[in-house]
Amino acid sequence: MRVLIIGSGGREHAICRQFLKSSKIDKVYCAPGNGGTSQIASNVDISVDDFEGLAGFAEENKIDFTFVGPEIPLSLGVVDYFEAKGLKIVGPSKRAAELESSKIYSKKFMQKYGIPTAQYNCFSNVRDALKFLDNYGETQRVVVKADGLAAGKGVYVCNGRDEAKNSVNQLMNYRILGSAGTNIIIEEYIHGPELSYLVFTDGISYSIMPASQDHKRINDNDKGPNTGGMGAYAPAPLAANELNRKAEEIICKVVNGIKAEKLNYKGVLYIGLIIRDSSPYVLEFNCRFGDPETQAVLPLLDTDLTDVCIAVLNKELQSLKINWKKEFSVCVVLASNGYPEKFETGFEISGLENIDGKDTIVFHAGTKFEHGKFFTSGGRVLGITSKANSIKAAIDRVYSNVRRVYFKNVYYRKDIAWRALNEDRC
Ligand code: GLY
Repeated sequence: MRVLIIGSGGREHAICRQFLKSSKIDKVYCAPGNGGTSQIASNVDISVDDFEGLAGFAEENKIDFTFVGPEIPLSLGVVDYFEAKGLKIVGPSKRAAELESSKIYSKKFMQKYGIPTAQYNCFSNVRDALKFLDNYGETQRVVVKADGLAAGKGVYVCNGRDEAKNSVNQLMNYRILGSAGTNIIIEEYIHGPELSYLVFTDGISYSIMPASQDHKRINDNDKGPNTGGMGAYAPAPLAANELNRKAEEIICKVVNGIKAEKLNYKGVLYIGLIIRDSSPYVLEFNCRFGDPETQAVLPLLDTDLTDVCIAVLNKELQSLKINWKKEFSVCVVLASNGYPEKFETGFEISGLENIDGKDTIVFHAGTKFEHGKFFTSGGRVLGITSKANSIKAAIDRVYSNVRRVYFKNVYYRKDIAWRALNEDRC
């Protein structure tokens, strides 16, 4: 079979690698891909929002199915476009992808289907939003969220009324995130550890992957601005017993809601939870694999990803048993210093040949391959993932490998997964 993967990050490199493990797959294409995918698959120079180009490529190259990595093409309707042409594609329709692309839609969905989430109010008018914030104290924490997609930059956890008013002004008056901030949500702040549940779903049934934890802040001890994610690990020990049961209850309600709304959903759903007093609340839905969570979770998959996709496409997921390795994995993101703000690119990456290949994988994100060498080309450059029989061993292994790789201005967090060893820090 021939598969086309849409996207260019570490997530897509991990997806490429997983398909290549399948005996059913002869050829993997990645559009547009990165330096890493160029080494294991064929990169195709078509951008993720060029639907005509992508579908034309799929038709000409007899692609059996396409797998969508990032949220932008999903929110623009790539699945609807492909399906209208009779092409098979794994991902939710544009309407279903609103679970991620509109925070207001997702909140209303949660409310309708009894899914626990923070209390919220929606605003489409800046005056009303500012007036509403007068109800808050000077130091009372409150969350301001842009309704639309904002590449991880649309959520402001504010320390009091004035900071929240400033965020509202930035979003609604100064439009720093463009149309993503036309409408906003102001919601109750919930304090607690976060957990990510990824599930495969065909819109009828679902299969839960090992729970993971992302590290969104740029600096150690969860300090500094939010990023796309600086590292992840799985399975997260926090996801045990009663909490796991409650999370599964939520996942079941979400999939039942998808069914009841008749949403065309065939793909991966990401449910981001926050835990307060042992009770999970949904922070957000993503309608695709999370990144970097995927770089930690997919290497644990012990069933052929092609079989999973075929079952999802045929709506037969219920009859497929999906197995996971009984191991732990930790992914550390190596970024360009200055990310998520300003950073330089174009530096040669060295030391990749020193990676201990058996239980460690290097996933490329912002890299390009030129004249036989890899160069940095983005903020998040590499994700290095190690597997082991314990979280502690996976942490030790991954950091011993991270230290073998170098590029100018390399930056990475030194504390990925340490919270798994110390529940107090969760
Ligand atoms: N790690 C969160 C995301 O993929 O958006």
